[in-house]
Amino acid sequence: MAIDLRSDTVTQPSQGMREAIAAAPVGDDVYGDDPTVNSLEERVAALFGMEAGLFSPTGSLANQLLIRTLVKPGEELLTEERAHIVRAELGAGAVFSGITTRTWHSERGLLNADAPLALAHESAGPYLVSTTAIAVENTHNFGGGTIQPISEIARLSSAARNRGISMHLDGARIWNAHVATGTPLSEFGKHFDTISVCLSKGLGAPVGSIALSSKERIADVRIWRKRYGGGMRQIGLLAAAGHYALDYNINRLAEDHARAKKIAIALAAHDNSIINPEHVETNIVGLELAATGISAADFAARCKEQGLWVSALGKSYARLVTHLDFDDAQCDEAIAIMKKVLN
Ligand SMILES: Cc1ncc(COP(=O)(O)O)c(C=O)c1O
Repeated sequence: MAIDLRSDTVTQPSQGMREAIAAAPVGDDVYGDDPTVNSLEERVAALFGMEAGLFSPTGSLANQLLIRTLVKPGEELLTEERAHIVRAELGAGAVFSGITTRTWHSERGLLNADAPLALAHESAGPYLVSTTAIAVENTHNFGGGTIQPISEIARLSSAARNRGISMHLDGARIWNAHVATGTPLSEFGKHFDTISVCLSKGLGAPVGSIALSSKERIADVRIWRKRYGGGMRQIGLLAAAGHYALDYNINRLAEDHARAKKIAIALAAHDNSIINPEHVETNIVGLELAATGISAADFAARCKEQGLWVSALGKSYARLVTHLDFDDAQCDEAIAIMKKVLN
């Protein structure tokens, strides 16, 4: 069987998760009648110290529903230049909500509050676009699983809010940041007006994100979810997978982090131009292959021939993501395959 490290979204629901899905009490969630969905939304909101939550089929939709409650058409959202919201949601903020964006540059996606604070221009009308929200991605996917320092988040949030600018967290992998740093989830809740979290990445659920905010904003988000065609019926089946993921799959993320680190150390020992193991903070290993003379596409193709799937995300940038269907033996095998391909 191939070892699939293209993403942490490739996992199979475990037997226990499947049993939880089968046993879930359900109801029509458009009527607010699904007890498993309601309890999941309340549970995740409580974890982050937020007032309310709403189940969303995807992280992209959760992000988009939330930022549209913060930023009106023609206003501006600031985010980092490789953030998922601006690189991988296909312009949804502009297409559906009339949101304009500007981005700041960073190394590895690592937040320095000075960058967005220097860009921000609140109440800029009628000549310039007014900044009304800033989005932070934690961990940063295309930055290589980078953890945002909580001190920097706090500094940005306090300065931005003092200027009347709202804060959004794309927390698709906030669980990884939480496990790696020990920062309580409720601490993140303090610094953001809206948060999206995914259950279908490292936590291993087949589907599901939760949009979090105040009761008022979530009531608005519920209307927009329905308007976009995202009002779903007996989705307690999916919410049950989310409950199971929260019960069993948070703390084990530390194993994914350890395996990612092991890969990074082994590859750096082979060729230290490819990766700095200190930059591997969570479950994502970003490989810069420029100095090896192999393109990322060739690297991915050659690994695939050997039974290892990785993503080629740029000309010379390849990405591996560890997850709950990847064990120690596969980790050793993956390292051996990559060393062979790089020789
Ligand atoms: C940081 C980040 N945010 C949001 C998303 C969107 O999640 P989905 O694929 O469920 O739309 C992803 C997906 O990989 C992501 O990495």
